[in-house]
Amino acid sequence: MPTSHSIQVKGLHKSYKEHQVLKGVDFEVEKGSIFALLGSNGAGKTTVVKILTTLLKQDAGTATVNGFDIASKPDHVRQSISLTGQFAAVDEILTGRENLVLIAKLRHLKQPRQAADDLLKRFGLTDAADRKASSYSGGMRRRLDIAMSLLGNPDIIFLDEPTTGLDPEARIETWKIVKELAEGGKTVFLTTQYLEEAEQLADRIAILHEGRIIANGTLSELKKLFPPAKVEYVEKQPSLEDIFLTIIGHKRGDQ
Ligand SMILES: Nc1ncnc2c1ncn2[C@@H]1O[C@H](COP(=O)(O)OP(=O)(O)O)[C@@H](O)[C@H]1O
Ligand SMILES: [Mg+2]
Repeated sequence: MPTSHSIQVKGLHKSYKEHQVLKGVDFEVEKGSIFALLGSNGAGKTTVVKILTTLLKQDAGTATVNGFDIASKPDHVRQSISLTGQFAAVDEILTGRENLVLIAKLRHLKQPRQAADDLLKRFGLTDAADRKASSYSGGMRRRLDIAMSLLGNPDIIFLDEPTTGLDPEARIETWKIVKELAEGGKTVFLTTQYLEEAEQLADRIAILHEGRIIANGTLSELKKLFPPAKVEYVEKQPSLEDIFLTIIGHKRGDQ
């Protein structure tokens, strides 16, 4: 059935032994949007990404990716997506071009060299194409990593903490690329522990905390959750950090 959603998640549960990490996670991601799953270290972001990219099975709940059920149609899901993990998939011994050509061949592209050159150009890596990736800066490596994930033209791009460990300049470079991907019609699902990153990039932000989505909305919707009484005392608009702390504070208080 046609839907405007690229990803639909209902009631996801996942435990590692007795450690319950996901306790009923629900959200939807609109086609062509940037969706940020925001949560602190250990919140379960990578677990969600692994389940949605078919690397890990959920204990309960359902999800569809590009309209395909992750449990019954994992091959179709894999053909629709790319995944760039927290740790770069780039081979340090190969040059930038060789890395791209290798993946293009693995994906059986008809013109691997041409596909590699097009991506090198698009990601500003043409001048560095014949240097070993080990000589690349963090930002260049991340650009190459994302370029590699685009070979095969996936509709949905998963980026698990795309800027963790990058310096501020490389972070801004990566943000630009993520925005361009969405402008080009891709759906981007990213995880981050940086409030500012979600704020800068995402059309919609979902906050994962203690196994559940405790808030989900556009930035302006999330800002409305901030108690108005407090807003009077701050000169600028509340940051996502203020909102995050307020919501978590409330949750703690509720218990
Ligand atoms: N394979 C595993 N076995 C046991 N515990 C795990 C495993 N993977 C992750 N965890 C635990 O599950 C929790 C969530 O991990 P993860 O999804 O990687 O969080 P995040 O990506 O938000 O940092 C953490 O407490 C982590 O230690
Ligand atoms: Mg993680």
